[in-house]
Amino acid sequence: MSFLALAQKRKSIRRFLDKPVPQKLVDTILEAARLAPSAGNLQAYEVVTVKNEETRKALAAASFGQAQVSDAPVVMVFVADPPRSAAKYGDRGAELYSVQDASIACAYAQLAAADLGLGAVWVGAFDEDAVAKAVNASGRPVALLPIGYPAEKPGHPPRRDGVFFEETLD
Ligand SMILES: Cc1cc2nc3c(=O)[nH]c(=O)nc-3n(C[C@H](O)[C@H](O)[C@H](O)COP(=O)(O)O)c2cc1C
Repeated sequence: MSFLALAQKRKSIRRFLDKPVPQKLVDTILEAARLAPSAGNLQAYEVVTVKNEETRKALAAASFGQAQVSDAPVVMVFVADPPRSAAKYGDRGAELYSVQDASIACAYAQLAAADLGLGAVWVGAFDEDAVAKAVNASGRPVALLPIGYPAEKPGHPPRRDGVFFEETLD
C-alpha cells in the first residue's frame, strides 16, 4: 500500500468488535511509534499500553465518559516527558518538543494500526491528572489511542479549504 493509500484508509474508528488484538500487532504498532522522529532523538515521551478493563474504564471516566476508550480492547496512552526534553532544550523542550514527540509517535501508531487492519481514534479530551493517575504516569498525558478491530466503516469527514498556501513574492 502506498503511504497516500494508507492515509486515505485511516479514519477515526470509535466502535470496536469484542475481539482481542494479538500482542504481535500491539508490538508492531509500538515499533512504528518508536521509529517516529523526536527532537534531538530524545524520545521525550512514554507509551503505556492498557488492556486491563478496570483501567480502561478509569481512562474513559477521565475522558468525560467517552465510551470508545473503555470499549476498545487496547488503549495506548502517550505521555510527554517534559523534563527529558527540557534538559537539552529548556522551556521550548518542556512545553513544545516533548508534546510534539508524543504526538508524532501517536500519529505513527494510528497509521500503523490502520495498516494492520485495526481501527483507532485519537482522544485528546480528558482530564490530564486523572489519566496520569489511572496509568501511574509522572509525565503529561497528551493523547489516548483506543485500538481494536473496527465495528464501523465511517467515511472521511470533509476537510476545510484554505489550509494550504503557496508563497507569493509580491
Ligand atoms: C488533537 C486531537 C484530539 C482529538 N480528540 C478526540 C476526542 O477526544 N474524542 C474523539 O472521539 N475524537 C477525537 N479526535 C478525532 C477527531 O475528531 C478526528 O480525527 C476528526 O474528526 C477527523 O476525522 P478522521 O480522523 O476520521 O479523519 C481528536 C483528534 C485530534 C487530532
